[in-house]
Amino acid sequence: MGLTKKTILITGASGFIGSFLVEQAIKKQYCTIAGIRTASSKQFLQDPAIHFLELDFTSDISLDTALQECKLKYGQLDFVIHNAGVTKAVNNLLFEEVNFLNTQKLITALKRNELVPTKFIYISSLASFGPGIGTEPITAFHQKEPLTAYGRSKLQAEELLYQTPDFPFLIFNPTTVYGPREKDVLLLIKSIKKHIEVYIGTDRQLLSFLHVRDLCDAVFQGIESTAVNCNLLVSDCRIYTAKEFNTIVKRILHTKTISLILPVPVVRFAAILSELLGRLSGKVPVLNKERLKEFEAKNWGVDCKEIRNLGYLPQYSLEEGLKQTIYWYKAHGWIK
Ligand SMILES: NC(=O)c1ccc[n+]([C@@H]2O[C@H](COP(=O)([O-])OP(=O)(O)OC[C@H]3O[C@@H](n4cnc5c(N)ncnc54)[C@H](OP(=O)(O)O)[C@@H]3O)[C@@H](O)[C@H]2O)c1
Repeated sequence: MGLTKKTILITGASGFIGSFLVEQAIKKQYCTIAGIRTASSKQFLQDPAIHFLELDFTSDISLDTALQECKLKYGQLDFVIHNAGVTKAVNNLLFEEVNFLNTQKLITALKRNELVPTKFIYISSLASFGPGIGTEPITAFHQKEPLTAYGRSKLQAEELLYQTPDFPFLIFNPTTVYGPREKDVLLLIKSIKKHIEVYIGTDRQLLSFLHVRDLCDAVFQGIESTAVNCNLLVSDCRIYTAKEFNTIVKRILHTKTISLILPVPVVRFAAILSELLGRLSGKVPVLNKERLKEFEAKNWGVDCKEIRNLGYLPQYSLEEGLKQTIYWYKAHGWIK
C-alpha cells in the first residue's frame, strides 16, 4: 500500500468472518471502520485501532446519518466489505430481508451520500451457485441454481450488483468457512468427540472447506487486484469426502467413533420436527428442511481458478487448519 492509509468499512464486523476481516484490515494498515449494530458483541473487536460505526439497516435516515458522520470523520471510503448477513433463520423471509434488502439499502445509501467506494466487496456464498453437476467442481461459469432461500437471497444481492451502474464490485463465494470462533463445524467436531460420526444416506458427498484466515487473504488479494465486477469462488482448492473430513478430525482428537448412517427419509422427518420445535421456541434449529437440502446435495466441490489467478494460495491444509481450530476451541473451553 502507498503512504496514505486506505479506508475500509466492514459490515457484520462482530460476527465470525467479520471479526477476522477486521483483524486482517488492521494488520494491513487500513483505516478500519467496523460496521456493527447497537447490540453487537465487541468480544473479538478489542484492537484499539478499530473505529466503530453503528449501522441500522431498519432506517434509511439513520443509515444516512451514520454514513455522513463516517464521511466527516474519515473522508471517502476506498473499500466497503459488505459481510453482514444471516446464514440461518427461523423464517425464510429473513434471508431476503437481511441478505438482499439490506444490501440494496446499503448500495442506495452509499450512492445517496456520495460515498461510492473504489470497490464494493460482497461476501456472498457458494450457496448462490448451488451444488455441482455430477462430480465436476463448481466453476464461476456454473449456471446459478441455488437450492435454498439462503442461496436465493445471496443470488438476488449478486444480481442487483450486476445491474447497478457505476458501482464497481467484487463478489466472493466462499464454501464452508471454519476456524476459531466458528460454531457450526464445531458441532460436527463435538459429535466426533462424543464418538459419533453421522452420515445422511450412503451416497458419497464431495465437500470443500476454507480456513477463515485464507478467506481473508483471498478477499484482500481481490481488493488489491485490478479484478472487478465478477464472482470469485473460494475454498482451500481441494475436494474432500465427508468421510475424509471425519477421519482428519478423529486423527486430531485421537479418538474412535461409530458411524451412524441415517436414512434420508428419517432425517427428513427429523428436520420437519426440529423446524416445528424451532418455531415454537423462536430458536433456529441446527437441522431444518432448508439446511437438509444442502446436507443432501452430493457435490460442493469448488474450482478456484479465478482467485488463484489473482495470486491467492491457501496457507491452511484442512488438517493443519482443523488442528489449530480444535486447539483454539479447547483453549477457550468451547470443547473439553
Ligand atoms: N460461515 C460460513 O461458512 C460462510 C460461508 C459462506 C458465506 N458466508 C457469509 O459470510 C457472512 C458472515 O457470516 P458468518 O459466518 O461470520 O456469520 P455470523 O458469525 O453470524 O456473523 C453475521 C454478522 O452479520 C451481522 N448481522 C446479521 N443480521 C444483521 C442485520 N439484520 N443487520 C445488521 N447486521 C446483521 C451480525 O451482527 P450481530 O453480531 O449484531 O448479530 C454479525 O456481525 C455472511 O454474509 C454469510 O452469508 C459465511
